[in-house]
Parts: sequence; structure tokens; C-alpha cells
Amino acid sequence: MKRSLDTVPVSLGDRSYQIVIGSGLLKRLGELCAGLPLTHRAVVVTNPVVHRLYGAVVKASLVRAGFDVALVQVPNGERAKSLSQAARLYQAFVRHRMDRRSAVIALGGGVIGDLAGYAAATYLRGIPLIQVPTTLLAQVDSSVGGKTGLNLREGKNLVGAFYQPSLVVADTQTLESLPPRQLRAGLSEVVKYGMIADPELFGYIESHLDQVLRAEEEPLTLLVTWSCAIKAKVVEQDEREDGLRAILNFGHTVGHAIETATGYRRLLHGEAVAIGMVVATALSVMRGLCGKEDLHRLRSLLRRIGLPTSSNIGFTNIVQSIGYDKKIKNNMTYFVLTKGVGHVTVAPISDRRELRRALVFASRSS
Ligand code: NAD
Ligand code: GLY
Repeated sequence: MKRSLDTVPVSLGDRSYQIVIGSGLLKRLGELCAGLPLTHRAVVVTNPVVHRLYGAVVKASLVRAGFDVALVQVPNGERAKSLSQAARLYQAFVRHRMDRRSAVIALGGGVIGDLAGYAAATYLRGIPLIQVPTTLLAQVDSSVGGKTGLNLREGKNLVGAFYQPSLVVADTQTLESLPPRQLRAGLSEVVKYGMIADPELFGYIESHLDQVLRAEEEPLTLLVTWSCAIKAKVVEQDEREDGLRAILNFGHTVGHAIETATGYRRLLHGEAVAIGMVVATALSVMRGLCGKEDLHRLRSLLRRIGLPTSSNIGFTNIVQSIGYDKKIKNNMTYFVLTKGVGHVTVAPISDRRELRRALVFASRSS
């Protein structure tokens, strides 16, 4: 992968777009948006944390490029992904007289991207969306590929739409202000890309981890570009998750179950996914798909990053929560398994006892 690559195309016919990645891009947001077929009104959706850090620079850049900008803040955190916050955004769009070519600009992490993305997908049956992700998780994963979503009391992401953005602008300089725990959680998704698609990426993280954890610009920009390129290729082949896209859920079945079992409070998403990847790899070892050395390599990298690799949540709770997972079809849970670092396969699990054995194996084989 070449260092100079800082624009990743996502080719989806008339829904194609560019992911522009680099340091200091917020200042150039207006000029980047001016290249799109937009009218001059735009609403920036953000939260108080991100607004304090980057609201002014984003607004100034858009105004310089001739946009009439309104800025709307929603509460910080997962609770913003609600129908009531979406309704607040619709009201703001009406007040700002947004038309079918006015842009919604999502400035923040995955929460803002999912909420603003859903509002953009549904207002006037869809208006342009610009993703401006400011967390590592959002830059490598949630801002790309068009999944948007809101939570209901009954569960996460139960309301949503596939809706591709018109542009993604990932300013890697914003990662400098990210709390270290959030950076580590985002790295979990980068490790995932290495596990499912690219041993070279996995090796790069192993050998450059110190620089990455110091949030140095060059390795981080490379990791974001590399991850986006992998995700773009998957999404191009299977936009609506009819098959291949499921590989992006490596580690997520158990990860989601752990998040559900702990009420989404104890662990960040990336932390739960790290544990899930270890369990999926343990299951793969048990099925003879890969060797124990793959499990040790994964676990040792996750530990060096500072991510959890096991949890003290009861196995019964985890197995039970998997029972409610969206990936259940015909009573089978489909698991993304590894055939060694860089290679995946998807296989059904019908026997809960096998899963339980994998959870035990994952927790004991360290
Ligand atoms: P988040 O959006 O809650 O952001 C994490 C925290 O970092 C927040 O407090 C936020 O205010 C703060 N923050 C954001 N940018 C910052 C910066 N540059 N400096 C300092 N603080 C900053 O969490 P997240 O991990 O980015 O996203 C998680 C959400 O993404 C979940 O709701 C998850 O369901 C969703 N998600 C969606 C997809 C998808 O494909 N749509 C994929 C993965 C996750
Ligand atoms: N985050 C998984 C996906 O976008 O499909």
C-alpha cells in the first residue's frame, strides 16, 4: 500500500463517492464540498465535545466557500441515536429551509454519523450527506459504506437505512484530541481488517504500534487509508450485506452479545469486538481452520494495544444474548471465522455447546 494514497474511491454506480484522508482537512472542508452538486445551504450536526474542538474551524471553512450554515448540537454519547433527536434534526432542516440538494454534514464520531446519516436519508426522502468523522472508529469504519441507524429501547440500531454519503472527509489531525481509550477501541477495527483481509496490514500494526499509540500522523493516516480501501472493496461487492459484507462482522457476534449483556455501559464497542475476535479465533482453532499460533498472535497484539481479550461475563449470559443477534437466520447463528491472519470464512453454528466450549477455550488458552 502506497503512503501517498489519500483518496479512496467507493465505486457504487450513481452512488459513488470519494473518501478524502489527510491531516488538516477540516480547514478545507468548504472547498471540498464546493466540488459537489449542492445548493448553498448546509446543516452541520455535531455534539458539544466536538463542537468545542472543531465547530468554529468547520463553520468558517464552509462560510468561506459560500455556504449558509446552521449548526445543530445533539447530546454527547450513544443516547443521541434516538428518534427524538432525529425529529429535532428534521425541525432544524425545516427552519434552515433545506432543499433536496442541501447538505447535512455529520461532524463527529460514529454516533453523529449514524444519527445525521439517518436524518439525511429520510428528510425529503434523502438529501446529500457529508461524513466528517473525528474518531478513529468512524474514520476506519462507520463513516464508510452507508449504514445509518438509531436505537430503540428494545435494542441498538433497530431503525436504519442504507444511505451512502456524497463525500467522506477524514481529517487525521482530529485524532490528536481523541482520548487514548477511544483511539485503542478504534484500533480494534483496524486489527479486524488485518484479520479478515490483509496479513501485511496486521504486520504493519505489530511493527508500528508505538507510533500509532502516540497518535503520530503518518502511521495513523496510512492505517485509515488502508482500512477504508479494504472496506470500500467489500462494500462495492455487497452494498446491502447479502453475503460478503458479513465478513466485516468478524468478532462482532460475541462483541455485540457482550455489549448487550453489559447494558452498553462497561465496554466500548471496539473493546467488546476485541474479545469477540479472540473467541471467533478460538472457535476457528477448535474447528481446525487455523493454528494456535494465530490465536496467540492476535491476542498478543490486542494486549499490546491495551484492549481486553477476555471478559468476566458469564458464558450463559453471552450465549443467551447471541440468541437475540440480528445475524440469526433459520435458527442458525452465522459466525465469521478465520483461516489464519488475513483470511476469513463464514460458517453456521447450530450447537450452542460448541460456542460455550469456544468461550471456555478462549478464556483458558492464554
Ligand atoms: P462516539 O461517536 O460516541 O465518539 C466517542 C467519543 O469521542 C464521544 O464522546 C465523542 O464526543 C468524542 N469525540 C469524537 N471525536 C473526538 C475528537 N476528535 N476528539 C475528542 N473527542 C472526540 O463513538 P464512536 O466509537 O465514534 O462510534 C460508535 C457508534 O458508531 C456506535 O453508535 C456504533 O453503533 C456506530 N457504528 C456504526 C457503524 C456503521 O457502519 N454505521 C459501524 C461501527 C459503529
Ligand atoms: N461495520 C460493518 C459494516 O459496515 O458493514
